[in-house]
Amino acid sequence: MILGIGTDLANIERIEATLERFGDRFRNRVFTEAEQAKAERRRDTAGTYAKRWAAKEACSKALGTGLRMGIAWKDMSVTNLRSGQPVMHVTGWAAERLKAMTPEGHEAIIHVTLTDDHPWAQAFVVIEARPIVRV
Ligand SMILES: CC(C)(COP(=O)(O)OP(=O)(O)OC[C@H]1O[C@@H](n2cnc3c(N)ncnc32)[C@H](O)[C@@H]1OP(=O)(O)O)[C@@H](O)C(=O)NCCC(=O)NCCS
Repeated sequence: MILGIGTDLANIERIEATLERFGDRFRNRVFTEAEQAKAERRRDTAGTYAKRWAAKEACSKALGTGLRMGIAWKDMSVTNLRSGQPVMHVTGWAAERLKAMTPEGHEAIIHVTLTDDHPWAQAFVVIEARPIVRV
């Protein structure tokens, strides 16, 4: 069953301006070390950050919380499989929220997909609950 969906559209130029203005304060508040390492080694640094920003916003919507002041952004983070497919990881408050919304006897799976076409970066997140089958 589907537990939640979320989407977000982020403006890459706005993220670029925020990176220029706030630098590491912004980077370190929002993005994990792995996310920063990926973005900084890419040619499209701002686009890479913007996709991950959109992913965190979309995930918070799928979790049903939205992004309130003071939440830990790094408790939602994106890595990529070798194929390039993005994977969402949740820790801290986000993991607790995911657990609370997952029915007994089920496991939660977070699906995420990202795209960008300058100046826009977009993310969709779907949270699925699958019955745990014991064999
Ligand atoms: C997946 C693919 C269609 C993306 O197309 P694109 O138009 O260049 O890029 P978009 O802006 O629409 O999307 C980019 C996002 O797609 C996602 N993506 C990349 N590969 C993916 C895959 N195999 N499955 C699902 N999502 C994928 C990523 O999240 C990526 O953003 P990120 O790298 O910042 O995380 C394209 O990269 C492709 O055909 N790849 C083939 C597989 C490949 O070359 N793999 C190389 C490693 S083996």
